[in-house]
Amino acid sequence: MTNSHGPLLYEGKAKRVYAADQDDWVLVEYKNDATAFNALKREQIADKGRLNCQISARLFELLEQEGIPTHFLGLVDETWMAVQKVQVIPLEVVLRNVATGSLCKQTPIVQGTSLEPALLDLYYKDDAFGDPLLTESRLELLQLVSAEQRQAIEVLARRVNAVLVPFFLGLDLQLVDFKLELGCNASGELLVADEISPDTCRLWDLRTSDPKQRILDKDRFRQDLGGLIEAYGEVCKRVQGACPNPRNYR
Ligand code: TMP
Ligand code: ASP
Repeated sequence: MTNSHGPLLYEGKAKRVYAADQDDWVLVEYKNDATAFNALKREQIADKGRLNCQISARLFELLEQEGIPTHFLGLVDETWMAVQKVQVIPLEVVLRNVATGSLCKQTPIVQGTSLEPALLDLYYKDDAFGDPLLTESRLELLQLVSAEQRQAIEVLARRVNAVLVPFFLGLDLQLVDFKLELGCNASGELLVADEISPDTCRLWDLRTSDPKQRILDKDRFRQDLGGLIEAYGEVCKRVQGACPNPRNYR
């Protein structure tokens, strides 16, 4: 794989993006780096890139099957996927089904409160500012998206939640919350981009009620709980069981 990509276009905390042989798609390499708290905490964790790539591929394909457009074109290798080139909207779109994390640090809402309908939070994606939570008026002031796009983003994010919650439930996993990044392709279509993995979702194992043991996502790293690869491996195993053969690209 490493011989057949073009120049590095962008390197993020968890992925590298390379040019491909055509202008409308790129190659994404999932890295083993784990970061938290705006990369103040950082570690290399062997096999994390492969697991996130494999999980993301299957979740993107599942969304596509449900009519939700994503940037995913196909797997290229264990840790590489081909995706449509998109203009990423600088927003982190977070949907919360259960109150935890920053919501409980910043408000008196009790940990574990069920949120129905799911709470949608928009953050400004910019590490220099620490990805701050946006108000609707700040979003308008920043002019990052039009009113119609703002509406379309919410509709798309809620559709993703409506697909992923029952899918994970079928695997005995509770989708507590997750973060999406969206982008527009060359035709202006709004797509789910970035990744969907235990780095960007909170997943609780319904096969145990132990509040630490049930955590199968990056909170294991954020909270120094250990066992991150075992947790991601378990998520991957269950997701692979439901979606055994994601498509390959070329
Ligand atoms: P939060 O409770 O820390 O705001 O996180 C909400 C969700 O967003 C959770 O599933 C983890 C995910 N997330 C990211 O993917 N990237 C981030 O930088 C942060 C802060 C959260
Ligand atoms: N992805 C973010 C970072 O490293 C934070 C997080 O996921 O908690 O900085």
